Amino acid sequence: MKKIAVVGTGYVGLVTGTCFAETGNQVICVDIDAKKVDLMRSGKVPIYEPHLDVLFERNIRDKRLSFTTNLDEAIEDAEIIFLALPTPPGEDGSADLRYVLGVAEELGKKIKNYKVIVDKSTVPVGTAEKVHAAVAKMPK
Ligand SMILES: NC(=O)c1ccc[n+]([C@@H]2O[C@H](COP(=O)([O-])OP(=O)(O)OC[C@H]3O[C@@H](n4cnc5c(N)ncnc54)[C@H](O)[C@@H]3O)[C@@H](O)[C@H]2O)c1
Repeated sequence: MKKIAVVGTGYVGLVTGTCFAETGNQVICVDIDAKKVDLMRSGKVPIYEPHLDVLFERNIRDKRLSFTTNLDEAIEDAEIIFLALPTPPGEDGSADLRYVLGVAEELGKKIKNYKVIVDKSTVPVGTAEKVHAAVAKMPK
């Protein structure tokens, strides 16, 4: 059992988080969209994905899956943090990394012990180094 945080609870983050909970892990999903978080907390799945509702309900009931808008709360005990944030195409068609790197900088300010950060968003080769640099940027 791992303690996992998923940052960004859209199509990718919610499916990822729910499936990790279904396989026995403790998962907190965090999103800045308070309406979406409220909806999920009330037991409703905001997207359609075949059979996701069954897994979603089971893992909330069994207390392996929860939702928050609070990044501190989500990462406090997490051993692994998945970034499932939007990467819309920028003006030149390349992935816009502002959401991913913005959260990485936030994590740099908040993380106090060893954590594995996984880029689950679709990102170009070399992004892991950028995320690492963004996390390391903040003086501890
Ligand atoms: N949807 C797909 O089928 C699919 C398939 C392959 C890859 N991807 C990639 O996965 C990534 C995520 O895509 P998606 O479809 O899940 O996007 P999405 O828009 O459905 O979800 C992104 C979520 O991130 C949240 N968010 C934005 N900023 C945030 C922040 N600072 N802190 C916390 N949450 C924040 C949004 O509120 C939203 O709920 C993108 O890189 C996308 O290209 C998506």
